[in-house]
Amino acid sequence: MNEDSLQPNGISQQPSPTTSTYQPFVPDVDFEQPINDNLDAKDRENQPLLGRMDHAPGYNHFPDDPSFSYVIKQAEIAIDNSVFPERIYQGSSGSYFVKDPNCKTIGVFKPKDEEPYGLLNPKWIKWLHKNCCPCCFGRSCLIPNQGYLSEAGASLVSTKLGLNIVPKTKVAKLVSETFNYGRLDREKTRMKHAINDHFPKLGRRFNRLGLRPKIGSFQLFMEGYKDAEYWLRRLELAPLPLNLQSRFQLQFERLVVLDYIIRNTDRGNDNWLIRYDQPSLSSSPNASLTNSTISESSSEWNNVQEPDIKIAAIDNGLAFPFKHPDSWRAYPYHWAWLPQAKIPFSKDTKELVLPYLSDMNFVQDLCDDLYTLFKIDKGFDRHMFEKQMSVMRGQILNLTQALKDGKSPVQLVQMPAVIVERSKGHVGTTSKFRSFSDTFTQRFQNKSPFFSWC
Ligand SMILES: Nc1ncnc2c1ncn2[C@@H]1O[C@H](COP(=O)(O)OP(=O)(O)OP(=O)(O)O)[C@@H](O)[C@H]1O
Ligand SMILES: [Mg+2]
Repeated sequence: MNEDSLQPNGISQQPSPTTSTYQPFVPDVDFEQPINDNLDAKDRENQPLLGRMDHAPGYNHFPDDPSFSYVIKQAEIAIDNSVFPERIYQGSSGSYFVKDPNCKTIGVFKPKDEEPYGLLNPKWIKWLHKNCCPCCFGRSCLIPNQGYLSEAGASLVSTKLGLNIVPKTKVAKLVSETFNYGRLDREKTRMKHAINDHFPKLGRRFNRLGLRPKIGSFQLFMEGYKDAEYWLRRLELAPLPLNLQSRFQLQFERLVVLDYIIRNTDRGNDNWLIRYDQPSLSSSPNASLTNSTISESSSEWNNVQEPDIKIAAIDNGLAFPFKHPDSWRAYPYHWAWLPQAKIPFSKDTKELVLPYLSDMNFVQDLCDDLYTLFKIDKGFDRHMFEKQMSVMRGQILNLTQALKDGKSPVQLVQMPAVIVERSKGHVGTTSKFRSFSDTFTQRFQNKSPFFSWC
């Protein structure tokens, strides 16, 4: 893709001020983004709060991932053209379906400040939980309000282990009128616009004219997928053909590996998706619909769609706890009640992940990558991060043992919770490890939560 074609509406960079026109007291700001010429005056009225420098400088560039950068750029172009992200109504937080300029959904954006316990969470029920009964609803084992990092971290783990089960998710910044902003934010923005309209010289002093961009997680939208609950119920009545059953089992095991490593505390069957392409004839005009008219010529047989089944692990915002759940609730993995969880891990899964997980240097590399990601948060605390990694290392230790012993997912979740801490003197080390016992101390968690089933 040509770089130029990625520029939203042909936005051009402001030329640097020449000495003759340069005014020392006017801050160096970008031009207001030109509104698309194709929009009529009525449409322009729709975007009074967006404008100059609304896109976050320093964010949304992924030099090592041009296809992801392209998707984000499409989202920005769409917003510039008043195709705004749409809130997902069934969620418990402010989550948004993000569109491209043709109104096609391309991603799911979850702003940090609209997370379940974020300051601007738009759902009143969460406000009630937070203010009236925090002990029953908050997850005391998680660092609050870092769900967007957990979403991106899950994607990182999935990619690094070759699981490819989480739709690609990265941290991005977006601005949209449809996001939940406080009244003060909106009033301030309106005021700035009014000043800019009447006193353009003064208006140029503002760093930003529009609403403030929000930081959050941006996950690619998976087309054709439905909540697992939907397909699981149907597959109970009409089981999959054998070859698809084993394909589903492999995907399921990858979901288990992911959830166990990140210690996901929110894996209900509404938080993973299944896409099932049932065998069918394509709607090509050459494809005849009745048996009598299907000729056996190879070109027409090509119209038969190969059946396939795939899993996508979404909603990973409540993972990476800094301790194992030990107060009221255990936050079990709901997949553990499915029949697939009783089958021992396959040879394929073992061959895929064991070489990684049993390599201490790989695990340290994973921790380092998560450190680079998590430290961008303003509230980042190195000590808490170390605790998160100690839980993760414990999970990896159990998982490695379970895979080697030929256990099933059900047996895996029954193993006692372990924490693997770095021995003093090794914290912060990235050099190669000599031996496990030299570098780490392992201990079991003795306190268990009150309820084990919820
Ligand atoms: N990447 C995706 N691709 C396709 N659909 C998605 C994706 N992410 C979310 N969805 C859809 O949006 C719904 C809500 O998403 P999600 O569960 O992530 O939001 P949420 O606000 O965190 O909800 P909650 O916390 O209540 O579970 C999902 O049930 C799913 O139908
Ligand atoms: Mg959900």
